[in-house]
Amino acid sequence: MQNISFKTSGKELQVNKESNLLRMSIRYEGEIPYKCGGGICGTCVVKVERGAGVLTDPSRKEIQKLGEELLSQGYRLACQTFVNGDIAINWDENPLLKKKKAVAK
Ligand code: FES
Repeated sequence: MQNISFKTSGKELQVNKESNLLRMSIRYEGEIPYKCGGGICGTCVVKVERGAGVLTDPSRKEIQKLGEELLSQGYRLACQTFVNGDIAINWDENPLLKKKKAVAK
């Protein structure tokens, strides 16, 4: 079993290997925000505080949505990410929403 620490909501979960991060959040009230569930909207962006190395590699959708820069800073799309070890994440800030606001000005 792997431990997921949802720092923003304070939830702690034990999950099986290859568990989808967003699916576990929805099922056990981890409270990660989301809309599409399919790598399109960018609402489910999380920052990996600990355990980035135990996550599956970024999907093509994540690479397109986040870009290499945000991925290298530890951001992931929860709906596209599978967990294979202990991790800690937060979603205190969504850099994609920040970008949209900056463009709207
Ligand atoms: S919920 Fe829309 S990109 Fe993950």
